[in-house]
Amino acid sequence: MKTIVEILSGRVSEAMEKVTGEADCQALVRQSQDARFGDYQSNGVMGLAKRLKTNPRELAGKIVAELDVSDMCEEPEVAGPGFINFTLKNEFIGGRLAGMDKDAAGRLGIDSTEEAKKVVVDFSAPNIAKQMHVGHLRSTIIGDCICRLMEFRGHEVVRQNHIGDWGTQFGMLIAYLKDENPEVIDKPETVEIADLEQFYKNAKKRCDEDPAFEAKARSEVVKLHNHAEDTLTVWKHIVDESRKHYQPIYDMLGVDLDESNERGESFYADRLAGVVEELKTRGVAIESEGAVCVFPEGFKNKEGDPLPFIVQKSDGAFLYATTDMAALQYRLRELGADKVIYVTDGRQQLHFKMLFASARMADWVSEDAELMHVWFGTMLGEDGKPFKTRSGKTIKLRDLLSEAVERARGVVEEKNPGLNDEQKDQVARAVGIGAVKYADFSNNRTTDYVFSFDRMLSMDGNTAPYMQYAYARVKSIERKAEEKGVDIAAEVERLGALNVSEPAEVELGKHIMRYGEAIASASADCRPNFLTSYLYDLAQKFSSFYSACPVLGADEDKRATRLVLCDLTANVIRHGLSELLGIDVVEQM
Ligand code: ARG
Repeated sequence: MKTIVEILSGRVSEAMEKVTGEADCQALVRQSQDARFGDYQSNGVMGLAKRLKTNPRELAGKIVAELDVSDMCEEPEVAGPGFINFTLKNEFIGGRLAGMDKDAAGRLGIDSTEEAKKVVVDFSAPNIAKQMHVGHLRSTIIGDCICRLMEFRGHEVVRQNHIGDWGTQFGMLIAYLKDENPEVIDKPETVEIADLEQFYKNAKKRCDEDPAFEAKARSEVVKLHNHAEDTLTVWKHIVDESRKHYQPIYDMLGVDLDESNERGESFYADRLAGVVEELKTRGVAIESEGAVCVFPEGFKNKEGDPLPFIVQKSDGAFLYATTDMAALQYRLRELGADKVIYVTDGRQQLHFKMLFASARMADWVSEDAELMHVWFGTMLGEDGKPFKTRSGKTIKLRDLLSEAVERARGVVEEKNPGLNDEQKDQVARAVGIGAVKYADFSNNRTTDYVFSFDRMLSMDGNTAPYMQYAYARVKSIERKAEEKGVDIAAEVERLGALNVSEPAEVELGKHIMRYGEAIASASADCRPNFLTSYLYDLAQKFSSFYSACPVLGADEDKRATRLVLCDLTANVIRHGLSELLGIDVVEQM
């Protein structure tokens, strides 16, 4: 089924075109923010009237006279300078809800987009030989959620993990391993990521102190770049070891990433010289103070001089930017992307702006292709400073997640001591991991937010446990109904359309109907918080409904409608949490 916004947009613009003879009229239909103005509002008439130099209210009146929406709405009203307000009819709401409930495809009656695209999403991208820290959490889970949203919308999504697996730091590390820990080379299974991190620190120190070692490290970089076998073998061990560290974190987080999604920096290594050459021959990159640079228009430094996007240093070395140019070219030309989304920290905004501008200068980006940097703010500690351990170290993601599960286990123990151990573990995992993810999603991604276990594990407010509890509660109502011998599916069949009439039923029903609109806006702006807000409102509207309207005690006709409202609420919460946010639900908690 099309969303209400889509249906009304179609009908209003058609009426606008009929009345004025103008082509491509924009109806600008939105959900009304204020119930006094109905459920939906079309704001397009004012612009059209301005263009035609005519009175907007009068024009709106003519459009309303032309418009037929009697199958779904009460008589539309013209308001203010020329808004058109729509109030949905209860029968229409009831019919739509039945349609959502009966959707056998499990899509809750929500259509796929008509303009399916190939979307490449670059996310997570940890740096190997280092443990993942909280900074990678945001990219990993926001990126995964964007992929899920896009996939549900019907786009073809290609997940790309641009891991940091190339570069001078590996020269140091390899030289160090060869020198000090040759046993690691023969027995890579004996070294863990934490060791690698320590080796790396030691290697750096040795580099600073010992010029002979530094030279060795540099020669290892050259050997690596020339694919010298012995060097490459050590490098592969390092990559494998790192993967053993981050794969379990992805699994724990419910993030769909594995080795097949890896296109690390090393993948592009052999293309860099070619990319720079191409940019030079096409006059996009020029030499400046020995380096090769692109000067995309509009970028200036503090002095007002053009800002370079450096693709090759004067010593011939390539940079992060060069790899990103090669990766973007690969995604556009070889993967055939219509849209490329990068999910990183806000501190890389300038880098991506310049990357996109440079690629456009090089004419790599067709007119309808879209490049998008989805950036996010910093996770802060309760002191309002970037989130660190008490001793000032970065927080390891693995430790953070373990702590969340442990704390959630405490909450479960307290709230529901009757569950058996296995159930408690399952709930603790769902709640603990869910809480960390949900807290991140529910914040506007472009603002910094304070990480607080207490808040995210609270049963009140817009949190994972609150939503998971809301789901379990609806499920328990359904279980009770089944115990009483009520067959919900049969009742829906018998009912046809839902019979919503009480204000709390109508409120809940209308909100359920808007699920598709919430998904569309969350995916268009890549903002998971649109979805969490929607789900939170749903849980609250369900609460009001449940306290105003008895379900199992209602007479037969009402009972069927109310049970279906329960069922739809549960299905939407389950779908939103588990399919789109990747957060597990539990049947009891
Ligand atoms: N590895 C980088 C980091 O940890 C992120 C890479 C993001 N993706 C990209 N194509 N530049 O900061």
